[in-house]
Amino acid sequence: MPTPKRTILALSPLLAPEMSRLDERFHTVRLYNESDPEKTLQAIRNDVVGIVSTTSTPIRKSLMEALPNLEIIAQSAVGTDNIDLDMAKSRGVRVTNTPDVLTDDTADIAVSLLLALSRRICEADMYVRVGKWQGGSMPLGVTPKGKTVGIVGLGRIGKAIAKRLVAFDMRIVYHGRKPKPDLAWPYYKDLREMAEICDYLVLSCPGGPETHNIVNADVLHALGPKGYLINVARGSVVDEPALVDALTNKVIAGAGLDVYAHEPNVPDVLKGMDNVVLLPHIGSATVETRTIMGEIVLANLEAHFSGKPLITPVV
Ligand code: GLV
Repeated sequence: MPTPKRTILALSPLLAPEMSRLDERFHTVRLYNESDPEKTLQAIRNDVVGIVSTTSTPIRKSLMEALPNLEIIAQSAVGTDNIDLDMAKSRGVRVTNTPDVLTDDTADIAVSLLLALSRRICEADMYVRVGKWQGGSMPLGVTPKGKTVGIVGLGRIGKAIAKRLVAFDMRIVYHGRKPKPDLAWPYYKDLREMAEICDYLVLSCPGGPETHNIVNADVLHALGPKGYLINVARGSVVDEPALVDALTNKVIAGAGLDVYAHEPNVPDVLKGMDNVVLLPHIGSATVETRTIMGEIVLANLEAHFSGKPLITPVV
């Protein structure tokens, strides 16, 4: 008799080829397809040994407690702020992520937002589509060349953003927990102070308690009426009501957002503003990168259940 397949709870899907491979190796329960997820969870709770997740689903104490045989959470994302890591540690649940492979795509999205805002790309596209061009030229944009960009979180993604923006002749400064002695760009310990001298503030730091709402009304005031905010980090890094307020009252010039405080919900008032560009959390959303991310998730599960070292352990 072949041994029965172990049960993996998928809270979000991987791409179809990787889901098929998951199905070959495990009994996969797609909770996101279930009409009564709570009932399904109760029925399988003792069988679940692994979770496949993305950042969109919180994995907190109550879920971990509901799954007494959970061994591993294989997250398809670099960030793990949706997971209670302390709880995982204390229960001996391993956690893996997908670092590095999404760095370049996410940096590309930050740069796309910066350019789209500066050159009014979304407005310009609409200008042509609705036939406004016949009525005359549209308002001018601003050039990024020679401007100062403050990067909040100069980790892998932050560095990739900086590298790209140097090619646009922008001046780089950065804020983070610690200065990076190997980098020549000026470091600001104080975020507000840095915002004061920035034309653009680009957020690429991890989410979580340490960065919760660090971009607050004060920082937005310091960024000022010519300043743009770009967020490819987490919605939690920004005090969202303060941002809405700052955009409404022209405290800052505009914002390019890939992430929000309560995804997938975006404050309606932002949708009516033409000085904001709104993306649906697509930093890593390319076929190539999502494929590799899925492969890493599978490789981590395989390693764990074969007793081998994890590929990309977090906990
Ligand atoms: C996306 O937000 C990620 O953390 O990978």
